[in-house]
Amino acid sequence: VKSIAVLTSGGDSQGMNAAVRAVVRSALFNGLDVYGVQRGYQGLINDDLRPMDLRSVGDIIQRGGTILQTARCKEFLTPEGQQRGAEVLRSRGIDGLVVIGGDGSYQGANKLSKLGIKTMGLPGTIDNDIPFTDLTIGFDTAVSIVVDAINKLRDTMTSHERSSIVEVMGRHCGDIALFAGLASGAETILVPEVPYDLEQVANRMRENFQHGKRHSIIIVAEGAGNGEDVAREITALNGIEPRVTVLGHIQRGGAPTHNDRILASRLGDFAVRKLMDGDSGKGCGIVKGEFVATDIEKVVTTKKAFNMELYELASRLSQ
Ligand code: F6P
Repeated sequence: VKSIAVLTSGGDSQGMNAAVRAVVRSALFNGLDVYGVQRGYQGLINDDLRPMDLRSVGDIIQRGGTILQTARCKEFLTPEGQQRGAEVLRSRGIDGLVVIGGDGSYQGANKLSKLGIKTMGLPGTIDNDIPFTDLTIGFDTAVSIVVDAINKLRDTMTSHERSSIVEVMGRHCGDIALFAGLASGAETILVPEVPYDLEQVANRMRENFQHGKRHSIIIVAEGAGNGEDVAREITALNGIEPRVTVLGHIQRGGAPTHNDRILASRLGDFAVRKLMDGDSGKGCGIVKGEFVATDIEKVVTTKKAFNMELYELASRLSQ
């Protein structure tokens, strides 16, 4: 490849900018031309590309969001949209594309690869729901935001001897809830991967208060339920009225942690090297410290395994 493009797509995540920077600088270092596509696949269809130089990605490694903007593009789900995207790249003499995003973005990259564009996917999502990588770019920052919020909630919950329900993002994946719950010592973690019984949760909460606990924190992954509904059911079961906090898009903003910046930098450089090797249609990741490139087809058709060991540990430690 001589010329590549990079885009960010789907929900943004902290560290996407660090990934864009790594792709651009690694490409330039290796003598490639590199273009930034604005607004994900929508920008590709609209031929909204600009050449990137070293300075285009200066002062962004520490910023949340994405300087390339992002979009959830319906048109790109159609064969016509995908064909158009491939044509735009070809007409500009671009033979490689790095797509930074989640599941939907990977599906798009897979289609382009089948149309002859060399593509690499980078896992950019706070949800940590992409398999064949231990962590996705943005997850570490999102978890740290949730932990920080729970620390604050604990103060006021303890003063009032109250219960708090914190609803977190993650779509169909419980990882944000699991990791933040373990790190913040939550009493209960409700995730879509593990069935739960609210009667047990309510009984345990009542007993814990009776035995001297001065607060109770329940984390609800959005894929497992709605914070307000869980609160209503708990009140009906044990008479306690939990206060509900929905953290929402706060989890997707702010400066990325050093872990996310390093992950993004390593994966961005790896993706460029893979393209230079002539590889295509791969999702990039790091598993147990080793780089891996997995067929995107396999990535999008495999469900990420839930870490039951961590879940059971969190339960044991939250007595
Ligand atoms: O995939 C990232 C994510 O933040 C999910 O956790 C959440 O379900 C979804 O995106 C929210 O989407 P939107 O930003 O379009 O409301």
